Amino acid sequence: MKLEILPSLLAADFGRLSDEILRAEASGADALHLDIMDPHFVPNLSFGPDVVALSRRTAPGFYRNVHLMMSRPDLYLEKFAAAGAQTIQIHVEADCDLHVELARIRSLGVKPAIVLNPETPVERIAPYLDEVDEVLVMTVHPGYGGQKFIADCLPKVSWVRERRPGLDIMVDGGVNGDTAVESVKAGANQLVAGSYLFRQSDMAAAVADMRRRCAC
Ligand code: DX5
Ligand code: ZN
Repeated sequence: MKLEILPSLLAADFGRLSDEILRAEASGADALHLDIMDPHFVPNLSFGPDVVALSRRTAPGFYRNVHLMMSRPDLYLEKFAAAGAQTIQIHVEADCDLHVELARIRSLGVKPAIVLNPETPVERIAPYLDEVDEVLVMTVHPGYGGQKFIADCLPKVSWVRERRPGLDIMVDGGVNGDTAVESVKAGANQLVAGSYLFRQSDMAAAVADMRRRCAC
């Protein structure tokens, strides 16, 4: 599986968003991860479709992976697709018909993905595995960047990898040089890293180092 590294824009300096998007692109990372939060689903708010559109304007060739931490993602799918989302990730804990919404994401020309929170049993995503292009296993409780990686979530990654050897499997939350390696060993091939990458003065060196360490 191709290893992919995705800086999370949530950890960027919001006063210089365009520059931060360009810095992430220039780092050699594979895609930009955009965290959309509503305060019903998580105890925080982040940003909306305008920032996805800004990312497209600023770095049109930098792939946009959009993570909807929302109770009703179904109400916003068209808006995020129109803004330039290329993958849309919706949570299995969301309050909508996931079979319908995953199909709708695909009909909008966007790749659908399913996400599960740390407390959610992995079996809950089984009915959707044939309908998605990617599974995201959260390794923190969503809502904030900069939290500690929950290694107890990794058996879920292995569970999915055993059943779908060719599927993209992502981890998100608390990923750094060490936890990236643990995640890849468990079967993940896509790594979201927010605070770890954005706090680096040389993001490109950190991305290259993560790639090298995960290849071993
Ligand atoms: C958590 C978000 C993550 C977050 C990761 O609510 O879904 O994408 O930005 O941030 P770090 O890498 O700092 O844990
Ligand atoms: Zn995320």
